Amino acid sequence: MKVIENNEKTKIHLKINGNVYEYETEPRRLLVHVLRELGFTGVHVGCDTSNCGACTVIMNGKSVKSCTVLAVEADGSEILTVEGLAKDGKLHPIQEAFWEKHALQCGYCTPGMIMEAYWLLNENPNPTETEIREGISGNLCRCTGYQNIVEAIKSASQKLRINQTPYQHQ
Ligand code: FES
Ligand code: FES
Repeated sequence: MKVIENNEKTKIHLKINGNVYEYETEPRRLLVHVLRELGFTGVHVGCDTSNCGACTVIMNGKSVKSCTVLAVEADGSEILTVEGLAKDGKLHPIQEAFWEKHALQCGYCTPGMIMEAYWLLNENPNPTETEIREGISGNLCRCTGYQNIVEAIKSASQKLRINQTPYQHQ
């Protein structure tokens, strides 16, 4: 068993949006801070008690709040952040739908909200309004009142079903 002392740093590897990053970290560091230091500053911190979901990313296919994962725990995992959704500048249908339906104002919750929507539509490609609201209930927004976010996710689910876009994280 490998034991890491308090102040000792250890090397971890993370595959983020398809590229592998090597990073030296203390065991106490949170994944959210490491992602931001690696340049993924779309991952936001909105609270310190795991409620807001602004830090949501997809880790090994599941949506997780990266403020509540240690970076060392994430060693070897595959992570998708909002920066990895568009391909060659072409917006992912969920991003497009947020734009069309005016589902953001300040934009601070948006990366986490979009990643949660990504996970939700992967789990349930044709959700009801109630399922959408429940699906994003771990993601708080202080600006929009949620209605347009729900509309955007409905619209994205239609776009994805029509396009039959392959819907896999990297
Ligand atoms: S920063 Fe609020 S849940 Fe992670
Ligand atoms: S758009 Fe401002 S918090 Fe959601």
